[in-house]
Amino acid sequence: MLIGNKRRIIYGGDYFPEQWPEETWQEDIRLMKQAHVNMVSLGIFSWALLQPDEDTFTFDWLDRIMDMLAANDIDVCLGTATAAQPNWLSRKYADILFVRENGQRVAYGSRQSYCVNSPNYRKAIHRLAEEMATHYKGHSALALWHINNEYANKNSMCFCENCEKAFQKWLREKYGTIENLNESWGTVFWSEIYRSWEEINTPQVSAGGRNGTKLLDYKRFLSESFLSLYQEEYNVIRAITPDVPVTTNFEADWGKFDHYKFRDYLDVASLNFYPDPGNPAAYKWSALRHSMIRSLLQKPFILMEQAASQVDWYPVNAIKPPDLMRLWSYQALAHGSDSVMFFQWRASKQGAEKYHSAMVPHYGEKSRVFREICALGEELAKLTDIAGSNVEAEVAILLDNDSWWSVDSPYGFGLKSLDNELFWMSNAQPFPSVLVSYFAELEYYYEAFHALNIPVDVIAVDYDFSKYKVVVAPLLHMVKPGFKQAVEEFVHRGGIFITTYFSGVIDENIAVFQKGYLGPLKEVLGVKVEEFNPLLPGASNVMNIGGKIEGFAATYGCTIWCDVAHATTAKTLATFAQGFYAGSPCLTENHFGEGKAYYIATRPDPEFMRDFVGYLAATRGIEAHELPQGVELVTRLRDNRKFHFYLNHAKEKRHVTLPHGRFLDLLSGENREGALTLDRYGVSILTEV
Ligand code: GLA
Repeated sequence: MLIGNKRRIIYGGDYFPEQWPEETWQEDIRLMKQAHVNMVSLGIFSWALLQPDEDTFTFDWLDRIMDMLAANDIDVCLGTATAAQPNWLSRKYADILFVRENGQRVAYGSRQSYCVNSPNYRKAIHRLAEEMATHYKGHSALALWHINNEYANKNSMCFCENCEKAFQKWLREKYGTIENLNESWGTVFWSEIYRSWEEINTPQVSAGGRNGTKLLDYKRFLSESFLSLYQEEYNVIRAITPDVPVTTNFEADWGKFDHYKFRDYLDVASLNFYPDPGNPAAYKWSALRHSMIRSLLQKPFILMEQAASQVDWYPVNAIKPPDLMRLWSYQALAHGSDSVMFFQWRASKQGAEKYHSAMVPHYGEKSRVFREICALGEELAKLTDIAGSNVEAEVAILLDNDSWWSVDSPYGFGLKSLDNELFWMSNAQPFPSVLVSYFAELEYYYEAFHALNIPVDVIAVDYDFSKYKVVVAPLLHMVKPGFKQAVEEFVHRGGIFITTYFSGVIDENIAVFQKGYLGPLKEVLGVKVEEFNPLLPGASNVMNIGGKIEGFAATYGCTIWCDVAHATTAKTLATFAQGFYAGSPCLTENHFGEGKAYYIATRPDPEFMRDFVGYLAATRGIEAHELPQGVELVTRLRDNRKFHFYLNHAKEKRHVTLPHGRFLDLLSGENREGALTLDRYGVSILTEV
C-alpha cells in the first residue's frame, strides 16, 4: 500500500497507550520493533481524555506517544475518537443518547450510544475533528485518518424526536407533496393516510404488520444519516490535512447501512474481520466479506482489525490454534488487503474487553501468540512487492441494499422465526417465507464461484458492471429505474446475466409489478412469473434437466421456493418435476443480442450450482480451479506479475497439482514445479519464474 508513499504491507493494530502507565509505552515500542509493526491506530476511544470539558482540549499525552512512534519509524492511523462520547457531553445534552424502538433512551455507560442525527453530537464531533486535524497537521507520524469506529454497530436504529424531525424533512425533500408521499407509500391501505408532514412518526413497533415503504424509507434515511455523519468529520479533516488519506473501519456485516454510498469519500476502504475460529467453514464467510470490501473501491483495502486469537463476544469464544491467525492473515492479503492489523496491540487489564485476545497477551512477550505475531511480522516485511497488487474478477455479484431490506426485515437481520408470534414481532412487514433470506442467497451464489476458485467482485447494483463477463443478481427483489436498460445493454453486448426466484417483483416504492413478476426483467430473460410457491421447511422439488445441457445430471434437487413461470422467448433448460406446476420452467436461457440471460426459479442444491458455475466458466473462458477440499487459491496481479496464494484451510496436509510452469514460493524461498504440498493451515505464495 502506498500510504505514506511507502510500498509495504501495513502491520500493527489498535493501540491504547492511555490504558497504561508511560513506562509501559517504552516496552511497547521495543516489542513493536521486535514484531515488525509499522503502523498503529491511536486515539480511537480517547475523547474524554482529549477534551475533559466543553472548552478544554489537551493533547499532551497523545503528542508524547505520537513523537515516540515517529522517532521509531512507526506510522499512526489516527482515530478521531468520536465513537465514544464523554460522560459530561451526554449529561449536558441528553438528546445525544439514542432511543430504541420501544421508546427507551439508552443510558450512558458504553460506546456507540449516540444518536446519528443529534445536532449536539454533530456539533461536538465537528469541533473535535477540527481541533485534532489542526493540532496534528504536518506531524510526521500521521499517515492515515480513521474516522469514528464501526458506524451503526450498536446504534443503527434510533427513534428519537431529532430523528423524527429529520425524517420528516428528508421525506419532504424526497416527495415534495404529502399527496405524492401517500401515493408512493400506498397509505390508502389500512387507512394510513397522512395529512401533513408533522403527522409522520418514526415507524416504531405497532400492532402488527407495518407499511413496508415507510419502513424502507426510514432505513434509507438512517443509512444516509450515517454517511452525512461521516462527512461531518471528513469535510473538516480533508480541508485541514488534504494530503492525508482518510478511512473509517466498517464491520464485516453490511446490513445496517449502505456501505457502497461511502465510495466517493474513502481514500482506502477498511474492514474489521472476526470469523469464528470454531466454524470450520469460516474461511468461506471471510472470502465473501473480503471480496465485498475490495469491490467497494475496486482496489486494495486495509484489514483494520482481526483477533490475534479469540474474541469475547461469540457465545463460546474458540481460540485460534497455532498457525490459524497466520493463515487468515494471508487469506486477507490474498483477497486484496495491503495490511494485517489487529484489535488490539496489548490486551486490556480492565474494561469490557479484557478477555479479548491481543498481539501482546496478558502473559506477555514469552507467549505463543506473541511469538506467532513476531514470526508473521518478519515474513510480511519481506513481501513488499505484493502491496498494491489487486485481484481481477470477471464475475460480479450485484448487491442491492433495498432488496436486502425489503426481503429480510430492515429492523433486525436473522430475527426471522418460524414461531408465529416472533415472526410478527421481527418481521416489520409480512413476507411469504421466513426461509428466504436475501443475503443468504447472495452468499450461496458467491460460494458456488468461490468453490471453483473463481474470483468475484461484489458490487452495488448501481455500479457499472459492463466490464464483467458474468453478472449475477441473486434474489433481486426490487428493480429500480435504470437497471432494465443497464442489464439489457450488458447482455446485448455479449454479457451473461443470471437472476433467481422472487426477483423483479417490486419497484423502488415496494409497489408490485403487474402482469407477471420479473417485471422489467421479463424481456431480457424471456420469462414471466405467474405465482410463487414457498416450500415448507424440509420440502423439496426436482429440477428435471433430461439431457438438455451436456454434462449435467438428469435431475437435481431444489428447496425453499418455486416460481411458477412461463417462458416467452427463452429456451427452457429444466422443468419442475413435482406439484401441479410440474413441467413449468425452473431454468431458462434467453439469447438477447450477443449475450444470454439465465433465470433460476428455485434454490437449486449445491450439485447443480457446481455444474452450472463450471459450465459458465467453461463456455465463457473463465479460469476455474478444482482443488482438494479446504484449499483456496486467489491470485493478485501488479504490473503483469502474478502472486498465486494457495491457502490450506483443512486440518490435514493437502497435495495440489500446479499449472504448467516454474514458480518461486515467496514464503519458503524454494522453487516449485508440478505439485505442491501444503501443511495443515499451510500457505504458499507462488510467483512465476
Ligand atoms: C470491533 C471494534 C473494536 C473491538 C473489536 C472486538 O471490531 O471496532 O473496538 O471492540 O470489535 O472484537
